[in-house]
Amino acid sequence: MVPAWLWLLWLFIPQVTLETEDGRVLWGPQLVLVHVKDENDQVPRFSQAIYSVQLSQGTRPGTPFLFLEASDEDEPGTANSDLRFHILSQAPAQPFPDMFQLEPQLGALALSPKGSASLDQAPEGSYQLLVQVKDMGDQASGHQATATVNISVVESTWLPLDPIHLAENLKVPYPHPISQVHWSGENVHYYLESQPPGPFDVDTKGKLYVTMELDRESQAEYLLQVRAQNTHGEDYTEPLKLQVVVMDENDNAPVCPPRGPPISIPELSPAGTKVTTVLAEDLDAPGSPNSHVVYRLLSPEPEEGTEGRAFELDSTSGSVTLGALPLRAGQDIPLQVLAVDLGGAEGGLSSTCEVTVTITDVNDHAPEFTASQMEPISLPEDTEPGTLVATLMATDGDLEPAFRRMDFAIEAGNVHETFGLKWEPDSGHVRLLLLKNLSYETAPSYQLVVVVRSEAELVGPGPGPGATATVTVLVEKVVPLPKFNRESYEASVPVSTPAGSLLLTLRPSDPMSSPLRFSLVNDSEGWLCIKEGSGEVHTARPLQGARPGDMYTVLVEAQDADEPTRRAVVSLVIHFLKAPSASAPTLPLVPTRHLCTPRKNHGVVVSGAREDADLADGHGPYHFALGPNPTVQRDWRIQPLNGSHAYLTLALHWVEPREYSIPVVVSHNDRMWQLLVRVIVCRCNVEGQCMRKVGRMQGMPTKLSAVGILGGTLLAIGIFLALIFTHLALARKKDLDQPADSVPLKTAV
Ligand SMILES: *[C@@H]1O[C@H](CO)[C@@H](O)[C@H](O)[C@H]1NC(C)=O
Ligand SMILES: *[C@@H]1O[C@H](CO)[C@@H](O)[C@H](O)[C@H]1NC(C)=O
Ligand SMILES: *[C@@H]1O[C@H](CO)[C@@H](O)[C@H](O)[C@H]1NC(C)=O
Ligand SMILES: *[C@@H]1O[C@H](CO)[C@@H](O)[C@H](O)[C@H]1NC(C)=O
Repeated sequence: MVPAWLWLLWLFIPQVTLETEDGRVLWGPQLVLVHVKDENDQVPRFSQAIYSVQLSQGTRPGTPFLFLEASDEDEPGTANSDLRFHILSQAPAQPFPDMFQLEPQLGALALSPKGSASLDQAPEGSYQLLVQVKDMGDQASGHQATATVNISVVESTWLPLDPIHLAENLKVPYPHPISQVHWSGENVHYYLESQPPGPFDVDTKGKLYVTMELDRESQAEYLLQVRAQNTHGEDYTEPLKLQVVVMDENDNAPVCPPRGPPISIPELSPAGTKVTTVLAEDLDAPGSPNSHVVYRLLSPEPEEGTEGRAFELDSTSGSVTLGALPLRAGQDIPLQVLAVDLGGAEGGLSSTCEVTVTITDVNDHAPEFTASQMEPISLPEDTEPGTLVATLMATDGDLEPAFRRMDFAIEAGNVHETFGLKWEPDSGHVRLLLLKNLSYETAPSYQLVVVVRSEAELVGPGPGPGATATVTVLVEKVVPLPKFNRESYEASVPVSTPAGSLLLTLRPSDPMSSPLRFSLVNDSEGWLCIKEGSGEVHTARPLQGARPGDMYTVLVEAQDADEPTRRAVVSLVIHFLKAPSASAPTLPLVPTRHLCTPRKNHGVVVSGAREDADLADGHGPYHFALGPNPTVQRDWRIQPLNGSHAYLTLALHWVEPREYSIPVVVSHNDRMWQLLVRVIVCRCNVEGQCMRKVGRMQGMPTKLSAVGILGGTLLAIGIFLALIFTHLALARKKDLDQPADSVPLKTAV
């Protein structure tokens, strides 16, 4: 060991100078290095003369329970300070003399394996060891010192611990002591491990603490290991195990399952159909009341006055089933289920779980017509095929578009497929169309039965009476409109035409049609008149004011006599011509005939045929009519005899005897002209004939000879007759040469 002052000297390195007596420096200054060599002149010393230590039973062999300390002041790192420890003696030497072992270099005192084993059986006691420390390492020589180690063997207090139950969420000041361990040996350090890591700690006195609130739901159990260690961190013995059980508190409410998509349940599902299961999770200790969840249906609540509910809930399992109350398709029903823990007891925690149930549609509604009986529909016979007859509306109570699609058919009454149906698949209405020509004669009415069906298969009861609609179609007979035989009529008339002249005759196109009534619409000049029944147009008055070359247009209306609303109008154009020169005969004259008055059954035959060939051609019948003069019409009558002749007779019983010119209008093949039939009316004789010269009467010889025989005797009568004949001869002298044309009516008819 080098003394401290020498170290100092060695460190303060001196300077050497050589100088004369008078102080002159001869050499230097020069540094001088002085080496002081260590010598083993120091004795090692124990830190204590007596070491007392308690040794717990159960200490592992080889684990040092005491570290001896000694010092040597010789130079460190040299053999002079290289110390070795040894046990010199053990007292008592029972049961083995070498119960302890001392590590020579470190001075670490531990039980030998033998010692450890025997110590556990032996009662408490004490051992004294004499220990030595020596320098110079393992060399035999060197300085040495001794000390006493007093070892008291004590009973082990390192005893297994019972599991600790700790309440979660414990409201106490922390750290909170939970247990205590004790290693009865000395120089102990406690060390705690938690598996899994937890808020636990141990202090130097072996007190165990929990340092914060525990949560059972994050960790329900911990395994703590407490180690008793020496100053070098070596375990004296096996660690003590301590189980910490976290006790549950009802600190978790049931947790509802995440809200999923709506649950679809078909309508008409029977009661008891499983809808869903609400399974709320409670994180509290399984099997404890804290996690015992029961369920209650909050919504929908049972409706007032209805029996049963729409949904039933099993309170234990949370299973939701359909109740007795039927549900309508299309409903979205929110279910609210209360989940309560503590088995539903008071104070339990709860959550409200929500589930949406959608009631889906099934095809349980048959389509029906909105009106199954319709007003009868009248269709004119001439309705064109393709015409819309009726539109029938139908409805379907289902919601799903696929279940609303309808199919239509005419089930009955569609004779000869006269009608057809057309519809858009999802429109809900069907059009009844006429497909063929109607005929009143074939079928005056139809009774069509139209049915509607659901395209998709129907669930439940079949279609009701509303699935059938009856359409009655009445066919209307069509009477054609009156029609003229010409598109328009024209006539050319000299402006000098007298009143009553027949201009032309308007006729219907179909002579078989019902009778027509003709009338003039806008004869503003009043020049014309028309025969209502025959369609003959005459001049009503002289055409005063009409100028040659002008046109006069009037409209003529024809009405159906049976149905006056059916009418047709045609235009009639009159072209005015120049008056013919005076020399030209205006009208053909028919030779004079005789008729006697008072009226006998005699008449005058009038021939329709004319001399000019162009007018007389054609084969159609001749029509005869009296001119429009009212007097003529009153006094005379004309009736057809055969196709070409007519018979003119007196209409009145008595007509003034004189010569008459009777206008007769003849029409033939749409041509029309007027004849003036000259008739001499005379007084009748007893024979019913004109009184005239006997000899001139032809065709009646017996009667004339009788007149001759009686002539002489009936002179007075003869004079009287002569007077009359004279009178007649004076008046109608030129006519007496004419042959008698009058014939008895009875022979002619
Ligand atoms: C050793 O320890 C024991 C028990 O503590 C005691 O009785 C004894 O006197 C001690 N011996 C010495 C030498 O100190
Ligand atoms: C239906 O009537 C129209 C007009 O009368 C006619 O042209 C057509 O040929 C008729 N069709 C049938 C199929 O009789
Ligand atoms: C009668 O009516 C037709 C058609 O409106 C017309 O052309 C004609 O000039 C009218 N005639 C008279 C005389 O007003
Ligand atoms: C029509 O009767 C007249 C007079 O009796 C006669 O002359 C004429 O031949 C008859 N015509 C026909 C077509 O019978």
